[in-house]
Amino acid sequence: MKNPSSIKKILITAGPTREFIDPVRFISNPSTGAIGYAIAGIAAKKGKEVILLSGPTYLKPPPNVKIFYFESALDLEKLAGKYFKWADCFISSAAVSDFRPRLKEKEKIKKKNGINSLLLVENPDILKSLAAKKKDKILVGFALETENLLKNALLKLREKNLDLIVANKLSSAHSPFGTARVNAYIIDRRGCKKYDAVNKVKLARIILDRVEQICYSFKHV
Ligand code: C5P
Repeated sequence: MKNPSSIKKILITAGPTREFIDPVRFISNPSTGAIGYAIAGIAAKKGKEVILLSGPTYLKPPPNVKIFYFESALDLEKLAGKYFKWADCFISSAAVSDFRPRLKEKEKIKKKNGINSLLLVENPDILKSLAAKKKDKILVGFALETENLLKNALLKLREKNLDLIVANKLSSAHSPFGTARVNAYIIDRRGCKKYDAVNKVKLARIILDRVEQICYSFKHV
């Protein structure tokens, strides 16, 4: 099993996906990628080798991080599949769209023709399918929920075979999108800790520390 210093290569996904309907319109979400970029920057400062897979964002890549960009969930699936084997730890903070349009129209859909419905198909669950090849890698996921936050996050921790999940609640009173601070829970197989109004950079540091503690406890069980 790993010890903290054996985590040398970290693969991180960040930001939203874009699922195009036609050449100019897409389905997406308001993720800015801030937490994934913060984790990447701190991990690089700690001397880790870092590959960051980024969706479309306005953020500047952190220094000493290798970055590859994706647009759709299918693009991300290819990139993550390519670099997963390389990594000791995979941190999946990307806000991946669960659905994509069944067809991308070649030409811009004309308003005068109208549109009555949009057929969607399910995207692959990238984290879940990569987790089948987990071996002794550390896997970290994120869960954003509007209801039953802890119950749903715990389900994802188990279903996706994760070591750690970071859960955020989205409500009319609080959105984690685009804010510097979030209310987050960090859940692992031993328990759960709540962080109120925590700065995303601080949260990134806490997540990386937890990853290292998990490695340490593996070594000492
Ligand atoms: O969307 P969901 O709440 O299931 O996301 C939980 C975790 O799974 C996140 O870490 C996200 O990056 C990942 N995910 C994924 N592929 C999907 C949906 C989510 O890798 N299609």
